[in-house]
Amino acid sequence: MSSAFTRIKEKEEKLLCRTYGRYPVAVCSGKGSRLYGPDGEEYVDLLSGIAVTNLGHCNEEIAEVICQQARKLVHVSNLFYQEEQLDFAEKLLGTSNGLFSKAFFCNSGAEANEAAIKIARRYTQRVKGRPAGEIITLSNAFHGRTLGTVAATGQQKFLDGFDPAAPGFRQVPWGDAGLLEEAVTENTIAVMCEVIQGEAGVRPMSQAYADAVQRICREKGLLFIVDEVQTGNCRAGRYWGYQTYNLQPDIISTSKALANGLPLGAMLTNDEVSKGFVPGSHATTFGGGALLTAVGAKVVEIMQRDRLAERSAQVGEWARQQFEAIAQKYPGTIAEVRGKGLMIGIVLAFPAREIWEGLLKKGFICNLTQDVVLRLLPALTIPKEDLAAFASALDDLLARR
Ligand SMILES: Cc1ncc(COP(=O)(O)O)c(C=O)c1O
Repeated sequence: MSSAFTRIKEKEEKLLCRTYGRYPVAVCSGKGSRLYGPDGEEYVDLLSGIAVTNLGHCNEEIAEVICQQARKLVHVSNLFYQEEQLDFAEKLLGTSNGLFSKAFFCNSGAEANEAAIKIARRYTQRVKGRPAGEIITLSNAFHGRTLGTVAATGQQKFLDGFDPAAPGFRQVPWGDAGLLEEAVTENTIAVMCEVIQGEAGVRPMSQAYADAVQRICREKGLLFIVDEVQTGNCRAGRYWGYQTYNLQPDIISTSKALANGLPLGAMLTNDEVSKGFVPGSHATTFGGGALLTAVGAKVVEIMQRDRLAERSAQVGEWARQQFEAIAQKYPGTIAEVRGKGLMIGIVLAFPAREIWEGLLKKGFICNLTQDVVLRLLPALTIPKEDLAAFASALDDLLARR
């Protein structure tokens, strides 16, 4: 271990709450798909935050907007009208091709989900005049760490020691439409799900299951909420994950890549459901501040101008083919290669920590989730050569196993 790394690690242990299991890597700068350590280490970043820096690290155009806007206006209260918010809202809503017409801005994925949950509840109670009810979520979901979203997440490991869990959620097993249908009662108000579960190891819904979830929502009069925090912003090969399944949710939440690394989140919905919020129903101090939304608008502009959804679909497909070829070459090592666009899970047939560490030693940063899944969420601008180099490093490690 380098001395600079050890110094940083020891200092952090004294100063920060121990909430994060860190990788043995310190980062001091980045550019595009590269990250650099304090002792001159260079890494190919296949993680992008966790699906955050979709336009690459320290993108020049984004840096320019940050500098200009920082000299013009950074923040005023949401008591004031701000055109930056409106420009961003227009551009962001435009990516839904008319499905959504209203936005609420906040600061993170969990907060975007809180807004989705709150508007679903308030719309049901105050507009539809129904009593308070439950939202159904799916097993292995990940919706965030606030008390509400961690209850929606429903996984014991994230709830441990935080009792009492917030009420209002019921969880059903992922992938079984029959069990979902059976779980709906007159007390159910909505279904909330990820169309590709990210933290659970990049697990895409089948088309049939996705269609069934939407059908059940429509037939039973439930709001259909899709958590696009990880799948959104061109990650999965279309602007939004739900578009890859041709779905029409009533509400989506988004964050992560929305401002390429600055804390921005959004909840998008239609005119009807937006009636659930009135002045005073919901708010946040920093939500949609001028600096953040100026950056957000530029992100949408670049994604559309550079056709990054299409690139994500094409390069993702190409990368999956490379990994499939490795799976064929070394039978019994890779159990499955899954995902959509540049949201890729390489599922190993054995605990993958050693391979993950080997990749890190060779200078490739990816994420290990569920013990066996190498999760890749590279910048949508990543050069194909970087993915090819990663494939060759993986090939080498599996050959020597
Ligand atoms: C699908 C999904 N929803 C919500 C969240 C929570 O987002 P945040 O960490 O910004 O609160 C995440 C974070 O990984 C996520 O992947």
